Order: sequence, then structure tokens, then C-alpha cells
Amino acid sequence: MLSMEASSTPSTFHDLYSFGIQVLNTKDTDEKVNLSFLAQQLYEDGKIRVRPLDPNEMVKVRPPSVPARPDNITIVHPKQLHKRGAGTVENRAALIHSICHMESYAIDLSWDILCRFAILDYLPDEFLIDWFYVALDECRHFKMLSKRLTELASFYGQFPAHGGLWAAATATENDVMLRLCILHTVHEARGLDMTPNNIRRLREAKDFESADLLNVILEEEVSHVQKGVKWFKFCCAHAIREERRKNREEMQQQDSTQEEEVDENLIRQRFHHLVRNHTATGVLRPPFNHELRLKAGFTKDWYEPLIPSDETNASPSHATTSNDEEEVIH
Ligand SMILES: [Fe+2]
Ligand SMILES: [Fe+2]
Repeated sequence: MLSMEASSTPSTFHDLYSFGIQVLNTKDTDEKVNLSFLAQQLYEDGKIRVRPLDPNEMVKVRPPSVPARPDNITIVHPKQLHKRGAGTVENRAALIHSICHMESYAIDLSWDILCRFAILDYLPDEFLIDWFYVALDECRHFKMLSKRLTELASFYGQFPAHGGLWAAATATENDVMLRLCILHTVHEARGLDMTPNNIRRLREAKDFESADLLNVILEEEVSHVQKGVKWFKFCCAHAIREERRKNREEMQQQDSTQEEEVDENLIRQRFHHLVRNHTATGVLRPPFNHELRLKAGFTKDWYEPLIPSDETNASPSHATTSNDEEEVIH
């Protein structure tokens, strides 16, 4: 029951995949949130499956290349964005608005990785379920921030926002390992690095309500990075085993039926290679939130080899660039 015809309603959906497709084809962010929460209720009541019963349904109905997005958000170049200081109420609203906008994209990104790669049969249902629960976190983050905007006499849609947030998703749409590396570890971990600074600015401006909200979100984002690292390791180990199996086939050696261990150093080397070759700069710049990265299992040996030599002795305070800020996915 995956048809996206006008007659499709959530009551006809029997799996998370169908809900994901519907969320991605829905423009309004509040509606995306409501659909996600309905999926949660049905899934937790045991009324819907994870994948469709017939896997061909996932071949017939694919996620859109670019998700439907709200009509009322004016998209501009990042340089035209409202200044994000925290001194005035308007500036604080603009700051919260920019984070709210990223959370709305994070909802789409979580559903997109679930739907786009559900078709890979080596990925267990646990992969989809993990990203489903990330999507639900992102929905709650969006709701918390859009409610906070109304308390600041604003609303989601009041300020222009930048539209480059889907570019990395498009660039990684054919490669689950690359998607996990670039978006769900590198970009998501950048959120852990930058949020404490925003919390500090809000506290300095005595906006403790907004600061507390960002603190709750920050704690929850740790588990998103943890899932990024977990599934990157899984997919990378699978790719390495497949390469070994093909090599054995070519050399007409007997295939090993056992799941071979893959050295984690090898997995980290693949990660470094992907960042060097598939990001704009090929490097990662400090400051890093080592404490929360560690909590997520994203240890220094994953990212410190990617620091350029001109940064290794730099003080953390000068290193954050506005460009980093544009790349963050919460
Ligand atoms: Fe979030
Ligand atoms: Fe997140």
C-alpha cells in the first residue's frame, strides 16, 4: 500500500517505509511531525511493520531526490542570513530560527536514510528502527524550538533560511557509507562542537529558557552521532568483507562461510579517505567537543588525523568559521 496517489492516507500504511515516503512528500513541517508521531504510535502498538511485506514495493516507490519543503520559508544565500547574535530578542529569535530550520531538515534526513537504503538487504531492520527513533528526536527538537519561537513573538518562516542543507544528501544518495560518514558523523558531530557556544551566548543574554532547550537537544544529539559511527562501522565492515570475497572468487579460492572480523583501524582509514575526498576542504578543523564526541564513541583517532597541520597548534577559540556553521546538521 505504497501508492502516493491522492487517496493514500496513513491508515493504509502498513510499515515505517511507507510513512517515511509520505513524510518526505509532505511540505508542511508540522504535518511531517504529526505523521512521524502517528507512525510511532502504530509501530509501538505492533500495528505496522518496519519494511513492506513485499520488498518490490520499495523498488516501485522510491524517496524523492529532494523532499517536499514548506512554502513559507524564504531560501537565500548563507551570506544574506540574519545576523545570529543573541543580544536582542530579534537576534535570539533569528538564532533559534536557524536551528529550528536545521531540525526540520534533520527530520527529512533521518527518514531519507531509512527509506533510501532500506532496499539494501544486508541492512537489518535495526538500521531502519535506529533512524526512525532519530527522526522522532528531530521532530521533538523542531516542536520545542518552533514553540520557543512563538514565545519570542516569532514563528518558523519569519526569517530567511539557507537552502544548501540538502546538497550533501544529494551528493551521497547512492552510497550509504558515504551518507553515514558525511552527514551522520561529520556534520552531526559538528553540532556537538557548536551548540555549547550558542548556549553560552543565550545565557549571557539571560535567555535561560532557550539555553536550557539547546542543552536538552545537545544531550540527545550525542546518540545520533553514536548511531552514525555504529552504522558506518557496520557498512564499512560489510564492504570490506565483500571485497575480500570477490578477491577470493577471482583467485578461485574457497569462500569463507564465517563472518570475518574486520580490523577497526582499517575502518577508520576508509573513513579518513572518504572525508579527504568527499568534503569541500578534505579536512576537519577544531574546536571539537571531545567529551561529547567520546560519549558518542567518536574517538579522537577518527577525526584528529583529519586536522590540517596549520591547525594543530592553533587555539580552539579562533578556529570556528561561519562556514562550519552552515554545514552543521543537527
Ligand atoms: Fe536535532
Ligand atoms: Fe540529530
